[in-house]
Amino acid sequence: MSTFWGVYVALLTLGTLLAVTWLIFATRKGQRSDNTDQTVGHSFDGIEEYDNPLPRWWFLLFVATLVFAFGYLLLYPGLGNFKGLLPGYQAGWTQVAQWEREMALADARYGPLFASYAAMPIADVAKDEQALKIGGRLFANHCSVCHGSDAKGAFGFPNLTDDDWLYGGDPDTIKTSIMQGRQGVMPGWQQVIGDDGVRDVTGYVRSLSGLQNPAEVAVDLDRGKQLYATSCAMCHGPAGKGMQVLGAPDLTDKVWLYGSSFTQVQQTIGHGRNGQMPAQKDFLGNDKVHLLAAYVFQLSQRKHEPAAPRSQEKQ
Ligand code: HEC
Ligand code: HEC
Repeated sequence: MSTFWGVYVALLTLGTLLAVTWLIFATRKGQRSDNTDQTVGHSFDGIEEYDNPLPRWWFLLFVATLVFAFGYLLLYPGLGNFKGLLPGYQAGWTQVAQWEREMALADARYGPLFASYAAMPIADVAKDEQALKIGGRLFANHCSVCHGSDAKGAFGFPNLTDDDWLYGGDPDTIKTSIMQGRQGVMPGWQQVIGDDGVRDVTGYVRSLSGLQNPAEVAVDLDRGKQLYATSCAMCHGPAGKGMQVLGAPDLTDKVWLYGSSFTQVQQTIGHGRNGQMPAQKDFLGNDKVHLLAAYVFQLSQRKHEPAAPRSQEKQ
């Protein structure tokens, strides 16, 4: 706010408050203090009003609201550009500043604990009950929106509880995925190999994991295989086993990030996909990411009951 408007708002606010204060005391002055059977003289639908003073408690309520208003404007911002006197908010009281203050207090309290875990190898942290509890809470707050509260993922968001990794499942690689973020770059092929080419290579790719292609789609598997060798093998590998440095998925397994139906795979190949894992380095910082890496690592180490059908496969 410019100084002019700041002063304008402050004067308007103070002026109004002072006027109201004057009004309440001025009207009280003229009032009689005893009860009376005289009426004020007007009548609404036959109902008349006694000329009695405002009850004392009512009057005091008005005074209390005025005191509150002045107190509030003294402590918090409200009077133009005045920041308020509340200690610890010299930079101004805002919700963001309050949140940052609370985060700083929490860091001061838990920072040393987090730092002590950060000094341990991830595989050891993954065996520590307390560390996993903290990791689980961090996951619920920061990761479950995309990966699901059970970390089993959804369409476009990888399952973190299985042994199938886009980028690798050893502790350090998991940590790198979280710290640096990941960008999956699957180019779209429709412009390059045409609708027929996309259809044929879709049929071929699905056959790699044993999926039957719909009878009504005429797929030329040999042509699909050729196209695969020239256009896809450099990223997905000659046998379709994927390549973790690029995040190119294994196309021979039952895990499908973007769905396994003919139409879905066709869509993936024709128009490409671009999964984005946001980097947490500057947001959560090394120590929290270390705990999260341990939590995620441990999820895939559990010898869990045969994995529930992937949500991806239902899409
Ligand atoms: C905005 C959504 C989003 C959020 C939030 C998110 N992720 Fe991800 N994450 C993704 C996507 C999408 C991918 C896959 C990237 C790709 O397709 O290449 C991914 C990939 C990963 C991977 C690599 C998986 C593999 O198979 O190699 C790990 C590990 C991971 N995320 C952990 C986390 C953790 C821990 C958090 C919480 C700090 C988190 N993610 C928060 C969307 C998200
Ligand atoms: C530049 C490297 C690159 C090339 C070339 C490439 N891909 Fe991909 N592909 C990827 C990456 C990376 C992903 C993962 C995208 C993501 O995580 O969002 C992917 C994903 C896919 C998926 C989705 C798998 C799933 O689990 O849902 C299919 C299917 C696929 N590619 C098929 C092909 C075919 C067929 C070709 C050749 C016509 C091809 N790709 C060429 C890198 C590549």
